[in-house]
Amino acid sequence: MNIYQRTGFSGLLCICTLTLLAFSACSPVKKEEKSMKDIHSYSEPDKIIVRHIRLDLDVDFDTQTLAGRATLEVNNIAGVDTLILDSRDLTIERVTLGEDQRETGFVLGGEQPFLGQPLRIAVDRGVRTVNIDYRTSPDAAALQWLAPEQTAGKKHPFLFTQSQAVLARTWVPCQDSPGVRFTFDARIRVPTGLMAVMGAENSQEHSSDGVYTFTMPQPIPSYLLALAVGDLGFRPLGERTGVYAEPSVLEKAAYEFADTEKMLEAAEQLYGPYRWGRYDIIVLPPSFPFGGMENPRLTFATPTILAGDRSLVSLIAHELAHSWSGNLVTNATWNDFWLNEGFTTYFENRIMEAVYGREFATMLAALGLQDLQRTIGQMGETSRDSHLFLDLAGRDPDEGMTDVAYEKGHFFLRMLEKHFGRERWDAFLSAYFDHFAFKSMTTAGFLDWLDEKLLQQNPDLREDLRIDAWVYGPGLPENCPQPASDALRQVLAQAERWNAGAQASELETSGWTTQHWLVFLRSLQDDRLSSERMLDLDRAFGFSDTGNSEILSAWLAHAIRHKYVPAWPALQDFLTRQGRRKFLKPLYQGLAQTPEGKEFALKIYQHARAGYHPISAETIDAILGL
Ligand code: BES
Ligand code: ZN
Repeated sequence: MNIYQRTGFSGLLCICTLTLLAFSACSPVKKEEKSMKDIHSYSEPDKIIVRHIRLDLDVDFDTQTLAGRATLEVNNIAGVDTLILDSRDLTIERVTLGEDQRETGFVLGGEQPFLGQPLRIAVDRGVRTVNIDYRTSPDAAALQWLAPEQTAGKKHPFLFTQSQAVLARTWVPCQDSPGVRFTFDARIRVPTGLMAVMGAENSQEHSSDGVYTFTMPQPIPSYLLALAVGDLGFRPLGERTGVYAEPSVLEKAAYEFADTEKMLEAAEQLYGPYRWGRYDIIVLPPSFPFGGMENPRLTFATPTILAGDRSLVSLIAHELAHSWSGNLVTNATWNDFWLNEGFTTYFENRIMEAVYGREFATMLAALGLQDLQRTIGQMGETSRDSHLFLDLAGRDPDEGMTDVAYEKGHFFLRMLEKHFGRERWDAFLSAYFDHFAFKSMTTAGFLDWLDEKLLQQNPDLREDLRIDAWVYGPGLPENCPQPASDALRQVLAQAERWNAGAQASELETSGWTTQHWLVFLRSLQDDRLSSERMLDLDRAFGFSDTGNSEILSAWLAHAIRHKYVPAWPALQDFLTRQGRRKFLKPLYQGLAQTPEGKEFALKIYQHARAGYHPISAETIDAILGL
């Protein structure tokens, strides 16, 4: 469906002014404008733009709603008579203009899947302030309301948001496009005893009356709007860093993230000052559908990275790196998603190298390249989705977001680093983050900057480096760098021995880290994995009982494929106790391959679904054909 074919005013819900509002139908977007326009937003920020949002919201766990007011400060650049906002599943109660709150008309347009409805508000040329009284729906896709049993402490409910990619509109009426930035402040009322935190300036203390206030002085795009409410405590990690978590998780989290301040310093050494004040992390309950989310000043993280040995903290390096690539210089549209994730995956690896050494970082890169090769293999060498510059028209952006943006983007930048040398390349990147700070960036805009600063308009170099093939072509160009890791070679040698028939107990595995085990598990040959041989591995290495979520998920994928029944209780447990989509998706997909597997999956899902976030549940529904 062409999203520009809007349905007009079929949903005329409320007319609050005395004068009946006459809206003209939207003119179709001209072809040449199309690439500039964010196809996932109804808003028209080139005509009228939101600069600041003030939220005043009550958090009601009984009705599972947020209710209150969003006050938008706008700049009516073109002097238009309509402000179009994105909204989805919101109930708009009243809209007024100005400090004196003059009633104005509004209308919710036709609804489209995942885009929601345009909220059209009648404004005057000189409008500065728009006040929207509204409430969210219990089904708001950005919000997960957790019952006490779904938390670590089991006593208090919990709420968290996830706005990326196009879900902010389910809890705040806004111009929900990464190309629009605004500052905000907020007043959030929660039941006494609970604590509210936002991706903003946070107090580290509980408030006695349940009212929390926040300010966000740096302008952000809507997908970085974030709120969490629960029984939370805080522990400092360093001068500018700290962690929030439920009290019973706090100590483990503080241990795991002990290197955060070092990472922050390493990141600044690489690409310039951290511009957001503090960098804190909140560990969410296990239903959080992602590994991490780079909400400014406050990374949201899954508890599945609390391995107990700090071995999965590259995720923190990743979310921290977004403070430059993504939060500071932001992809203009979701088609430019690789500018966020590819740069961040590259930067993440540089932080890991700086803090933990080259060998470890190379191993992580090698694992990333394996992921990419697998993804491209699955989608097909010629798939349009294997381009860096995506075409997400007519699709939920969430669907087209794959390892390609992350790892093909990462290796593209590695290739450029290799060609220009670290010194020039790092200077180039620092200047890029500085020059475009707090701005959005298109793919073409980045390539122009690259051309100007490094290629120096040399068409041969552009061709030699295969820039266009990387960005606008499928698959992996042949000048993709290959990370050479000694550790990886050692692991491969042991995997070879096992594939050739050696007993697991004979292998030399002392000193192996999580990443060694992951490479090992990936190198086991399918035709060698009989149930008996899997039992040999399990006895020697205890994979079914591991507390490391990455190792467990890789092991369980084998267990499903090779019908290793002894691991099925662990599988059921893993699919029930956490809701991280990256882990759920391949396991349910594996189970869905066979009739018995599917039956087992449906049995588990019947109970587990209620505990999953809507984002994960939607993905699993599709896999199981529900
Ligand atoms: N920004 C992403 C998460 C995201 C992407 C949410 C697209 C919604 C839509 C975050 O930075 C991320 O990439 N998280 C990864 C972890 C990372 C270490 C690769 C994840 O959650 O798996
Ligand atoms: Zn990311």
